[in-house]
Amino acid sequence: MTETRSSARRVVVIGTGAVGGAVARRLLAGGREVVVWNRTAGRSAGLVDAGALPAGSVREAVSSGDLILLTLTDYAAVRQCLAELDMDLSGRTIVGMYTGTADEARRAARRAAVLGASYLDAGIQASPETIGTGAAIILYSGSRPAFEEHGATLGLLSEPRFVGEAPEAAAVWDLTLFGVWYDAQLGLLRALDTVREAGIDVAEFSRAAAAQLGHVVTGVPGTVSELSRSIYPAGPADLTEHLTVVRHLIGLRAGRRLGDGGLPAVAARIEALIGDGRGDEGLGATIG
Ligand SMILES: NC(=O)c1ccc[n+]([C@@H]2O[C@H](COP(=O)([O-])OP(=O)(O)OC[C@H]3O[C@@H](n4cnc5c(N)ncnc54)[C@H](OP(=O)(O)O)[C@@H]3O)[C@@H](O)[C@H]2O)c1
Repeated sequence: MTETRSSARRVVVIGTGAVGGAVARRLLAGGREVVVWNRTAGRSAGLVDAGALPAGSVREAVSSGDLILLTLTDYAAVRQCLAELDMDLSGRTIVGMYTGTADEARRAARRAAVLGASYLDAGIQASPETIGTGAAIILYSGSRPAFEEHGATLGLLSEPRFVGEAPEAAAVWDLTLFGVWYDAQLGLLRALDTVREAGIDVAEFSRAAAAQLGHVVTGVPGTVSELSRSIYPAGPADLTEHLTVVRHLIGLRAGRRLGDGGLPAVAARIEALIGDGRGDEGLGATIG
């Protein structure tokens, strides 16, 4: 994390919970003046002792800086704080730092625009203790000029990564990255649940399962290349063969407590492709 551009020296942090507290501390350590406001005022006391300036209201806080970070629980909290503002915020940048949906990001951006402010939506792929370390990734989308103007300050928190000018881009990245993890982890849990109940040695099975997950990881470049070329070669199995396995899995997972992982929809998609004469293509064709 290096400082490459001039940036706002006074930063406003609205919400000093786990993420907001870590963000404010890192900004102070990076030489920024930090104004803090928290709904439960006492929770900012440690930050004030560390040099942050307390504000008496959201309005007062927002008036005192160019870069306003909303490190809040969710969009409902963001909406509530933005609803308290009625002044002209031209020249200021609001950053929504919370886990939310694409629609919420668009709504926050619209509200910021009404106030005259630039808007960035942030996807926090980091835990509070990693803020300010190389392990933190924070994704930003929305106003590129605002991202560039405040790049040095945002760079104190993580390697800042701009993922698109659509306000919702960071939320889509953030949620779909979580989705990749959930799909893999729940796939593993489903498998372990099934083999344990079948009396199979879970430890021995898990080594084979880890190798299987590894095949997904090493196959990523090939999959992306197929998508970019719109060509889906069969690989080790074609769609007709995949359909047989998927149907067997649906049967194996019937009635299981973690469900079937959406395989019936996958089977229906493969059946439709086979019906279109594409049974000799590979699995990538399901999104082709
Ligand atoms: N913690 C993590 O590891 C982590 C990792 C990635 C992403 N995130 C995301 O980052 C965001 C913040 O998480 P966090 O862990 O910092 O949460 P947190 O510790 O619970 O802090 C939430 C903050 O939001 C404030 N708040 C909640 N509702 C409010 C409202 N209606 N009006 C005003 N302020 C309100 C809280 O104020 P009070 O103190 O008054 O309650 C507090 O300052 C969440 O969207 C979370 O999903 C967190």
